[in-house]
Amino acid sequence: MSDEFWTPSGPNLVVEADNRTILPCLPSSSFKVIYIDPPFNTGRTQKRQLIRTVRSPEGDRIGFKGQKYETLKGKVTSFNDTFVDYWEFLEPLLVHAYRLLTEDGTFYLHLDYREVHYAKVFLDALFGRDRFLNEIIWAYDYGARSTNKWPPKHDNILVYVKNPEAYCFNSEQVDREPYMAPGLVTPEKAARGKLPTDVWWHTIVSPTGREKTGYATQKPEGVLRRIVQASSNPGDWLLDFFAGSGTLGSVALQLDRNFVLIDNNPEAVAVMRKRLGHGRLTGRVSYFSGIPNEGQCLDGANR
Ligand SMILES: C[S@@+](CC[C@H](N)C(=O)[O-])C[C@H]1O[C@@H](n2cnc3c(N)ncnc32)[C@H](O)[C@@H]1O
Repeated sequence: MSDEFWTPSGPNLVVEADNRTILPCLPSSSFKVIYIDPPFNTGRTQKRQLIRTVRSPEGDRIGFKGQKYETLKGKVTSFNDTFVDYWEFLEPLLVHAYRLLTEDGTFYLHLDYREVHYAKVFLDALFGRDRFLNEIIWAYDYGARSTNKWPPKHDNILVYVKNPEAYCFNSEQVDREPYMAPGLVTPEKAARGKLPTDVWWHTIVSPTGREKTGYATQKPEGVLRRIVQASSNPGDWLLDFFAGSGTLGSVALQLDRNFVLIDNNPEAVAVMRKRLGHGRLTGRVSYFSGIPNEGQCLDGANR
């Protein structure tokens, strides 16, 4: 029996664990699509000693691509504290995402307007600016409207490819949408609909609809379906390491793709068990909870 934690010949996998313990146990270049929708609040205790870092040749900290950073201790605002904490948490996970993508793979990072600009700068450095494919705006219209600023009613999804010469993009497979002015195009075109642009108008998960699982941060299948249709083919492996209610897995089952989903919240895994079962449509979903064996994962340097 193989002692690898996961192999592409194995079943779909739902893991209940901290993603930081699992990502080092997955082999490089394995996933055609990685989609993540990380929470802002990481749930980690705030540091007492506030720090921030600046790039400096004399720096005492080694960061991404061997850049040296100088640590500046002192008075910073609570916003900066949260910010440093959040990005210290997220950056190593993004480095793993890059490692885990197949050569023709695509990474989708779902954030909101507060974090997306920092993420763009980091991912440009990680992937290369020429690997940035799109910023998708998911626009919805739900909830109260602030009256002292333009009410924010969109999320941002950054899209990066590993190889700009050889990535998967199946525009013909993507669900089309109605023309805004169907009278201006031929009846054939109007009947076929148009290819979505980088602005996706889509309702949030309806509180009374079939899709609703009850998980607070659940994203609509319609948004994930486009991502999966465009950037993968049947039989490909997809990964979501902030899986929540398992929306990516549900879409993958419907479209004959395979998946690994990771979440450290037992409630999320209970929702996924109910939603994905043991793979009615594609056959197999297995569940794992805990910490893999040391030998199944990368060495400490890569963790
Ligand atoms: C915004 S939700 C994802 C929602 C998901 N896209 C959906 O459609 O249901 C973020 C998820 O990340 C999980 N999470 C946060 N930190 C984590 C960690 N270190 N490891 C694994 N999961 C984590 C949370 O439990 C939460 O379910």
